[in-house]
Amino acid sequence: MAESCTDKALFDQLTSDTKSINIQVQKLKSEILKVENSIKTYTPDKDCTEANLADIREENKKFLYRRGILTQALLKEKKIGESMVTNNIQQFVQRLMAVAVYRAYPNVSTPPLPLLAVPNSKGYGGEYKSNVALELSKTLAEKGVIINPRDLADKLSKTIPPNDVITSSSITGAGFLNLKVDTGFICKKVQEILAKGVLPPDVEKKRVVVDFSSPNIAKEMHVGHLRSTIIGESICRMLEFCGHDVLRLNHVGDWGTQFGMLIAHLQDIFPDYESITPVIQDLQAFYKASKTRFDEEEDFKKRAYEAVVALQSHEPKVYNAWKKICEISRNEFQVIYDRLGISIIERGESFYHSMMPDLVEQLKLNGLLTLEEGRFLFFLKDKTSLPLTIVKSDGGYTYDTSDLAAIRHRIREEKAQWIIYVVDRGQSAHFQSIFEAAKIAGYLDDHKVRVNHVEFGLVLGEDKKKFKTRSGDTVQLANLLDKGLEKSMAHLTSKGRDKELTTDELRLAQESVAYSCIKYADLCHDRRRDYVFSFNKMLEDRGNTAVYLLYMLTRIRSIIRSSKLTPEQIESAIKKISIVLEVDVEIGLGMSLLRFPEVIYRTVDTLLLHQVCEYLYDLSCSFSSFYDKCYCMRIDKETDEVLEINMNRILLCEATARVFETGFHILGIIPVSRM
Ligand code: ARG
Repeated sequence: MAESCTDKALFDQLTSDTKSINIQVQKLKSEILKVENSIKTYTPDKDCTEANLADIREENKKFLYRRGILTQALLKEKKIGESMVTNNIQQFVQRLMAVAVYRAYPNVSTPPLPLLAVPNSKGYGGEYKSNVALELSKTLAEKGVIINPRDLADKLSKTIPPNDVITSSSITGAGFLNLKVDTGFICKKVQEILAKGVLPPDVEKKRVVVDFSSPNIAKEMHVGHLRSTIIGESICRMLEFCGHDVLRLNHVGDWGTQFGMLIAHLQDIFPDYESITPVIQDLQAFYKASKTRFDEEEDFKKRAYEAVVALQSHEPKVYNAWKKICEISRNEFQVIYDRLGISIIERGESFYHSMMPDLVEQLKLNGLLTLEEGRFLFFLKDKTSLPLTIVKSDGGYTYDTSDLAAIRHRIREEKAQWIIYVVDRGQSAHFQSIFEAAKIAGYLDDHKVRVNHVEFGLVLGEDKKKFKTRSGDTVQLANLLDKGLEKSMAHLTSKGRDKELTTDELRLAQESVAYSCIKYADLCHDRRRDYVFSFNKMLEDRGNTAVYLLYMLTRIRSIIRSSKLTPEQIESAIKKISIVLEVDVEIGLGMSLLRFPEVIYRTVDTLLLHQVCEYLYDLSCSFSSFYDKCYCMRIDKETDEVLEINMNRILLCEATARVFETGFHILGIIPVSRM
C-alpha cells in the first residue's frame, strides 16, 4: 500500500500533534502573561529608595530574561514540530496539508483525502502541487457544505501551520495549491548532501529476505531469470542503502525428479565423474540428451527412477553425481553474476528438503491436508479453489512444498520481517496461494511480516513476440551479454571515442555501456508490463537511456575537473562556503536534489524501480537547464588557464554528481570517468 495521508493513523497522529502544539502554546502564553504581571513598574519620585529601586531592577531583569526564553519557546512551539521535517519532503508537505485541513475543519475527521503533493515541474520547480482543496470540497459537499475549491484553497493556505519548509503558496487552476519550498531550506539540503553525503529516507529498519534470480539447475537461465536477477539486485541495493538488513537468496531449482535422468546419463557418459570433474560445455544439451534417452530407452528410464530414490536417501555415489551437476551449473551462473556485478547466496530447493517431512507432519496434525487419489492436497478456501499439492502420489514433494517450507524457515529461523519474491508474473497465483497457505498454517502473520511477489512481464523481441534467437531457441544469456559488448563498442566507435580514449578507458566504457544498458532498459519500464528488448533503442544517447545518463555524469565530473580544483580544495570549500541559490534554474536543480530521498521512499514502498530511473532522467534535465544558463567558471580558451571559478556552482555540480552516483549504484549502472 502506498503511504499517503489517507492513512487514518497518520491523520490522527497529525491532528493530535496539532492539538498538543495548541495546548503547549496556550500554556506558554499564560506563563508569559504571569511573568509580565510580575514585572514591577515604579514611579521614581514616589517613596522609592535607591536600595529597593536596585532590587526591583535586579528582579525585573530576571523576569525579562525569563520572558525572553518563554517567547523563544513559544515561537518554536507555534511551528509544527521540527522532528516532523524528515528527509522525505513530499511526505512532510502531505502531513502539513493534513494539519491545515484539520485546523480549518476539525470535524472532518474521516480523512479519506488523497493529499497528493507532486513536485511541480513547470515554472521554477521549487514547488509542490497539492490537490487537497479539490478533494476536500468533494468531502464537504457530501456533508452538505458547498464551497468552491478555489475559495477552499485560499482558506487552507491560511491554516497551513508555520514551518521552515513551505513559506508561501498560490492557487492555480480549479483549486490546486502551489506550495513554494523555501529557498533557504533548499540551500540547507544541498549543503547537507555535500557535508554528510546522500542520505536515505528515514524508514523503520527491517530484516528482509529477497528471493531473486533463482534459475533451475541444468536448464537454461533465460531472459526471465535475467529480469529477476537485474530487478532483484537493484531492490537489494536500494533496501541496503536505506539501512535494511538484507538476505539475498537464490532459490535455485536444484531438486526433483529430473535429476534422476541427469544422474543416470552422467554415470554413463562420465563413469569416473567422482575423481575427474566432467567437462560439460553445454549443460542444456546434456539435459536434452538425457531427456531423449528417458523418453526412448526403457532401461534408462528405470535407472533414472532408481537414481531419484537413491538421491532422496542421500546415497553417496548418486548424491555426489547430483553435487557435480549442481556445481557445473553453478559455475555457469556465476559467470553471468560476475559480469553483471550480482551478489547472491545460493539456497536452493534442496536446502529445505530435510525440513519437509516435519512440515507435512504438522500440516497433517492440524488437519490442513486432504488425501485425494494418493496425493496430499492443501485446500485454501473450499473444494472449488485450486489446492496446493504438498505430497505427490509417489511420495515426492513439489514446488509448493518447498516454497511453504521456505517461507516457514525464512520467518522462523531467519526472522524475516519482509519477504520479497522477484519472479515472473506467470507465477502470481502460485505465490498468492503460498502466502494464503502460510497464513492458514500460522507461519505468516501479515501484521508482522510483509510479503510481496514482485512480478514482472515478459521480454519481447523487436517483433513483439517472446524473445527468441533466429533459430527459434531461447536466447542464451552469455551470448546476449557478448552481443551487448559488441553493440556497445560499435556505438562508441561510431562516436569516434576509440580515437579519444586510451585502450583501458575504452574497454571500461564498453563494458559499462553494455551492461548498464541492458540493466537500465529493464529497470526503466514499469516492470509489470512486457518490454521489448532492443539494443538499438537502449544505445540511443538521447532520452531516458543509460547511455544518456552515463554521458551526463561524465560531463558533470568533467566540468568539475576542468576547474582544476583538487578534491581537497573541494572538501575545504564544502566546509567554508554556505550554498546560496539565486537563479531559478539553480533553485530548480537544488529542488531536484532534495527530492532524492522521497523518491527512494516511494520506490521502497512500491518496489517499482522505474521511479528511480524517471527521477534520474528529470535530474539530468534540471542539470541541463542549469548548465545552459549558468557559467561555473571562466577559462582562457588559448592558455586553458582558469580565470574565475563560481565555487557555489561547482559545489552544486558536485552535489548533483553525488546524487547521480548513488542512483547509479542502486540501478547497477557503472560510472566511468571518461567515455
Ligand atoms: N526456479 C523457479 C523458476 O525458474 C523460480 C523460483 C522462484 N522462487 C521461489 N521461491 N519459488 O521458475
